[in-house]
Amino acid sequence: MNNLINKLYNEHNLSDDELIQIIETNELDNELHISADKIRREIYGDKVFIRGLIEFSNYCKNNCYYCGIRRDNKKAVRYRLSKEQILNCCKEGYSLGFRTFVLQSGEDPYYNDDLMIDIVSSIRHNHPDCAITLSLGEKTKESYKAFFDVGANRYLLRHETASPEHYRKLHPESMSLENRKQCLFNLKEIGYQVGSGFMVGSPFQTTENLIEDLRFLQKLKPDMIGIGPYITHEETPFSNQKSGSVELTLRLLSILRLMFPYVLLPATTALGTLHKQGRELGLKAGANVLMPNLSPVNVRKFYDIYDNKICTGEEAAQCKGCLEKRVSAAGYRIVVDRGDVEK
Ligand code: SAM
Ligand code: FES
Repeated sequence: MNNLINKLYNEHNLSDDELIQIIETNELDNELHISADKIRREIYGDKVFIRGLIEFSNYCKNNCYYCGIRRDNKKAVRYRLSKEQILNCCKEGYSLGFRTFVLQSGEDPYYNDDLMIDIVSSIRHNHPDCAITLSLGEKTKESYKAFFDVGANRYLLRHETASPEHYRKLHPESMSLENRKQCLFNLKEIGYQVGSGFMVGSPFQTTENLIEDLRFLQKLKPDMIGIGPYITHEETPFSNQKSGSVELTLRLLSILRLMFPYVLLPATTALGTLHKQGRELGLKAGANVLMPNLSPVNVRKFYDIYDNKICTGEEAAQCKGCLEKRVSAAGYRIVVDRGDVEK
């Protein structure tokens, strides 16, 4: 085994210089993916956990320069799902074998704390054996606590980039990296299982930025890490920027698996969007989670955060069938399970 990979495999860490070497070459990729898959199989076997994603609103008060549903994209067709629609998505998901529901949206003040508490407690009541994951963006510690108290278990909030200079290039002045990071620590303190992460190949990203991301994750110690390639959306200020690469995303998935052996690591829809076999390649590189869409088909295409997003036309049942085939062809197995982190 290559010395660097051997060290990463045994010690789950490398120096900054060593990380630069491994991130900036594609020569080690094959061995890196094999080692990541080995460690993943030692802990999780061939299991792949599925999370049913419900994208319940694409209204957003923020204006991230990379995101297709940013406030200033006047061409976005906006929608909101009612509590009943969300509960129906969960019901259908449950019958298909989903035991985790992920409620994601833009930062939409319409869903105030009272409404979110009502939605979360109803899901908790209907599905006591399921995990409820929220991904609603930045909120106060009090709001996070209130959702936790009525049954939410997990929260996904990518830090996006751990570098203050890079963060400023991706977000307007009104947004703050410090606050985003504080939210993550607040969520952990409350008792949530926390997921963070970043986009790979976002505009102006350097290898040093990626190392800062890895170091931040080592500090945070999240249960889940979501990474996917940045993909250009034509109605954003970054319409002329290039999308990120599949190859670098796969390399980072393997590095993350080796650095955080127990972590829950999704092969993201963004990866599947840039490459026909992207999610399968992600699994082979160390990922162990898939997040198919449970949103009603008539709104799917409007949760348009980047161009050419896949899986916007299929019913949830079709998605599950398609994924089952893909996962077993790649040598893994989808399980009916909440898919908690193995610690
Ligand atoms: N509003 C919530 C938040 O801020 O965490 C959740 C919704 S937001 C659309 C979910 C994630 O989409 C972001 O954390 C970001 O990493 C990702 N995303 C946004 N625009 C993207 C793009 N153009 N390419 C790839 N991923 C993107
Ligand atoms: Fe708010 Fe993308 S700018 S979800």
